[in-house]
Amino acid sequence: MKQVRIATYGDPVDVVACVDIADVGPPAAGEVVFDVLAFPINPADLWFCRGSYRLKPPLPATPGAECVGRVTAVGAGVTHVGPGDLVINLQRENWAQRRRVRGEDAIPLPNGMDLRQAAMLRINPPTALLLLSDIVAVQPGEWVIQNVANSAVGRLLIRLARAKGLKTVNVVRRDSLFPELMALGADACVVDGPDLDARVKAATGGASIRLGIDAVAGEATGRIAECLADNGTVCTYGSMTGEDPVVHRSALIYRGISLTGFMLGRGLARRSAEQVRAIYADLAAQVMAGTLSAPVERVYPIEEIKAAVARADQGERTGKILVAPNGPI
Ligand SMILES: NC(=O)c1ccc[n+]([C@@H]2O[C@H](COP(=O)([O-])OP(=O)(O)OC[C@H]3O[C@@H](n4cnc5c(N)ncnc54)[C@H](OP(=O)(O)O)[C@@H]3O)[C@@H](O)[C@H]2O)c1
Repeated sequence: MKQVRIATYGDPVDVVACVDIADVGPPAAGEVVFDVLAFPINPADLWFCRGSYRLKPPLPATPGAECVGRVTAVGAGVTHVGPGDLVINLQRENWAQRRRVRGEDAIPLPNGMDLRQAAMLRINPPTALLLLSDIVAVQPGEWVIQNVANSAVGRLLIRLARAKGLKTVNVVRRDSLFPELMALGADACVVDGPDLDARVKAATGGASIRLGIDAVAGEATGRIAECLADNGTVCTYGSMTGEDPVVHRSALIYRGISLTGFMLGRGLARRSAEQVRAIYADLAAQVMAGTLSAPVERVYPIEEIKAAVARADQGERTGKILVAPNGPI
């Protein structure tokens, strides 16, 4: 079977390789074996390849924080899924044709779910959901501000915020994105840069904003902080610049702005297995209903992992880059 491996940490396009390895074998008791139908290439996977992600395992290593698969076999004692079922995997190393995992890590999805959306269900939808529930108790009618608003998380957050009765002001790098974000349910869009706070004030009619959501970091975090009401909270959950967040002390000291961070793993770990399953069941139902989705730019075969990674590492994509390791989806 084929698997993506990195033998050294470095520029993702240089270090990824598609290699042939022994099959995963049959499931032991309590295990599930599934064919990987599709996986996305997320920014965190690229940081993993560079060796600058929080997890840096000994090499060689296989990236891949999420995927969708179809179960081919289950071991004794596994009753929640069976052959033919669609699953997502709560564990990593998913850039491969086949996986053998602990039963509890295979979360069943509704059969018939769109495979591309299913491949992206594990990380970004719950991230957008919990960013709106776990940081500040925002109420219907309130505004929230976010940057990277055209990212998968950003687009999902626009939809989920709208469903909660929240209003979003969305910060992006180019105004050509405004029409599609407004069509998704954005209430206002602005281009990042100097005077962001004045332009946000104008766009929101001077709304008092308590929650700012940031995945650019560097000075962009400070620009989001400037858009918040006194005592507001900026939550950093990523760093597309690779920089640390910079929030000026005047915001922290004079205006009581708080800076915090979010990581999905921590958000899920605070919940019971039952609650986690319920979150995924609810998000899957929204995907099935067509109310929640993230755009896909292109799907590559696993043999073209270098081209897929190269494209995923570029800006101004029209959507996610996916890989389908077992043939077209
Ligand atoms: N903490 C967590 O648990 C967690 C979970 C999921 C995701 N995340 C983070 O969320 C962020 C978005 O992930 P995603 O999968 O939704 O992303 P994505 O769909 O792959 O989109 C990437 C986004 O980053 C923007 N971008 C790229 N380089 C940039 C730069 N130098 N400055 C400003 N913007 C830049 C792109 O804008 P253009 O279109 O203008 O290029 C695009 O909006 C990432 O930082 C990811 O690590 C964190």
